[in-house]
Amino acid sequence: MKGSLCLSMCMLFSAASVSGLSNDMLPVGQLSNDMSPDPPPTNPVTWLTYLNADNMNKGTVKSGQQLSSKLKDADSCAAKCASMLGSDPTTGCTSYTYYHADYHVGKLQGKCFGDSTGLWSPIYSNLESPGVYGGVTSGQNDPKNYVSACKTIDDCSANGVCNADTNTCECYPQWMGKYCGQLNLVPTDKIAGLQSTDENGRVSSWGGSVLLDEKTNKYHMFAAEMTHNTGIVVWMSNSRIRHAVSDDGVNFMSSDVTSPVWGHEPTAARAPTGEYVVFFTANFETIPCSGVECKNSDNGNTVIDGENCLPDTQCNEIPDLLTYMIYSKDPAGPWSEPVLVPTGDFGTIDTNLAPIILEDGSLIGLGRPPWIWRATAWNDTSTYVVEELDDTVMGEDPFLYVDPHDSSILHGLSHAGGWDSRGGHAWSLDGGKTWKVHEDIAAYGSLIEYTDGTSGVLTRRERPHLVLDKKGNPLALTNGATLDPCTHPEACDKDYCFTALQKLNQE
Ligand SMILES: *[C@@H]1O[C@H](CO)[C@@H](O)[C@H](O)[C@H]1NC(C)=O
Repeated sequence: MKGSLCLSMCMLFSAASVSGLSNDMLPVGQLSNDMSPDPPPTNPVTWLTYLNADNMNKGTVKSGQQLSSKLKDADSCAAKCASMLGSDPTTGCTSYTYYHADYHVGKLQGKCFGDSTGLWSPIYSNLESPGVYGGVTSGQNDPKNYVSACKTIDDCSANGVCNADTNTCECYPQWMGKYCGQLNLVPTDKIAGLQSTDENGRVSSWGGSVLLDEKTNKYHMFAAEMTHNTGIVVWMSNSRIRHAVSDDGVNFMSSDVTSPVWGHEPTAARAPTGEYVVFFTANFETIPCSGVECKNSDNGNTVIDGENCLPDTQCNEIPDLLTYMIYSKDPAGPWSEPVLVPTGDFGTIDTNLAPIILEDGSLIGLGRPPWIWRATAWNDTSTYVVEELDDTVMGEDPFLYVDPHDSSILHGLSHAGGWDSRGGHAWSLDGGKTWKVHEDIAAYGSLIEYTDGTSGVLTRRERPHLVLDKKGNPLALTNGATLDPCTHPEACDKDYCFTALQKLNQE
């Protein structure tokens, strides 16, 4: 990606283009039997339904089977899948994918695929023609009911235990699905997360890192926020660090500004001596991209207009993007002078650095894969070491946390999907030296469910952070997100974004 003007949010552009198969590829797997009987009138399966989600990667997934070539809607495909492959959530139809009549690849229109392997890794982007997306629906047979066979904890993604009597995974409440590899997200308030407004309308934000103050029981979020009511495409010139506060860890209210333009991608950690330590990409001298903050906007959307308002793909100037930390015992500051964080051989794009500080004051942090940071003392930059791992941790925007059940286990979440909404989960049993992953399971997808019974499609769902309770158990997932219909920034002039929050199952 050297030379690309599109940094933090499109690192996967090239990788995804390489793996994205051409539109001409024929679906593989069992050929359709269009003479099979009509689906039964009742559908015995509880589906998790995702719009704009293609679990068959344009029909090329090997384990997928084409079930019909001319169905009229997604519900018929769901019913067909259950009737042909069975309704058992582990051995029957574990997911279907239906390509609608308006899907952009003509030969897939009306086609219905089923899968019985538990695979769940939906995509929908078309990076060659970014304006084209959607027209595809996938459903998952209730992943809460999936039972994974196991021999070791790795077969359960370290998100549960392997019961030695039954040789099956018992997932922790926050996880579900094959290998316990999928977050068990539950319906949440529509207004959850950080969705601010000011006198000029909506205020965009892009991902929030949350820490609990165990003395006051308040949750503190540090989020990237775009100034002047702009959206995500001008993050390179308008991003700053916003502090927001919540009593319940769900609904956050904007508070003070932690660091002004220009700063982005904050991740906060807590030192054993009580300091809040915010790591972020910053420039305290110049504003990247256009040199000035974009001031043209419409209710949270950027109005691109000339030299003073350039989208991230058309920047004039991108200085080296350096990572700093600031610290304070009060999450509202005042903050220390910024301390430059060593980056070793990492390079000059934004590091995505996401560290945690352990009991002894040492630090471990995942950066943009495949990089890892370590320090024997978080506050002594001479002890920082930056190393390259293998390519197990997927994508970008990592988040690191310690397993609440076994502190020797580390977990990583990341944005694994390029322009897609997929999350990736990886874990390490050796303190971060080596990582493991089940690539056929996405930790989360585009679906967001609300407590009023409705749901939404997060067309972008990046920058994951987990809200952890006192004991370190995940309570909720936050993301930098956009809602349907926008996705690829070059294809949509509506770039309002917000920090979505969806709660996790707890029992
Ligand atoms: C780092 O913090 C520890 C604990 O507060 C302190 O003893 C030490 O002097 C600090 N180191 C530096 C380099 O500031």
